[in-house]
Amino acid sequence: MLLVVVALFLAVELPAYVGLDPAASRVPARPDLPLHYPLLVAHILFGSVALVTACLQIWPWLRRAHPVVHRRSGRIYLFGGVFPGGLAVLGVAPFSSTGPVSAVGNTALAVLWLATAVAGFRAARAHRYGDHRRWMLRSVALTFSIVVNRVWLVAYFLLFSPSLGDDPTALVLAAAGAAVWTSWVVNLLVVEWWVLRPPRRRHHRTV
Ligand code: HEM
Repeated sequence: MLLVVVALFLAVELPAYVGLDPAASRVPARPDLPLHYPLLVAHILFGSVALVTACLQIWPWLRRAHPVVHRRSGRIYLFGGVFPGGLAVLGVAPFSSTGPVSAVGNTALAVLWLATAVAGFRAARAHRYGDHRRWMLRSVALTFSIVVNRVWLVAYFLLFSPSLGDDPTALVLAAAGAAVWTSWVVNLLVVEWWVLRPPRRRHHRTV
């Protein structure tokens, strides 16, 4: 199910960027920042690797039945996805085309994306698998914030249209800024609740 959502997301988002044609980009060009477009495309391509491998990493059956595949795709998630994608986006996020609220929200997301992945990787190397699981769930929640971002964006457009409909620029800045923050904060809160909830009690029947 999650793989289908990711496939649909990538089918909509990637065509504008795989041709490496700056004119096709939906994010406005920054001629003053020559590295902006290459870093934008790099983060999208590495981000796509992160999204696909994240689906494999949180699939319980694969983890249990094929631990070697879990380990290999985990390395691809980190070294072919989150680490290069997170570093690339640090050169893009502070210059967001949708204003300072988005810029701060995306930069915070990029830093947390890298930090949670580093913490998860270190925990696995130290064989602290409980910590590893919790950090990687946080990392995956942040990876998926890009997908839910599109849903929040539509919701905020609808919510803000009555008050800001006469000023399209203000509407875009408000909706995009709110969507950036809501998408990763809510994802992180949901996962935090999930990893911190008390373990379910098992009912043992006494015979
Ligand atoms: C989780 C950390 C991420 C951060 C902080 C981040 C940040 C950003 C930023 C700052 C932009 C440029 C927005 C602008 O200037 O208007 C952007 C665009 C974009 N990002 Fe990410 N991103 C992240 C993850 C991902 C992932 C995992 C993907 C998956 C493919 C992705 C796909 C895209 C796409 C397709 C665009 C272009 C938007 C468009 O064409 O409308 N991002 N991102």
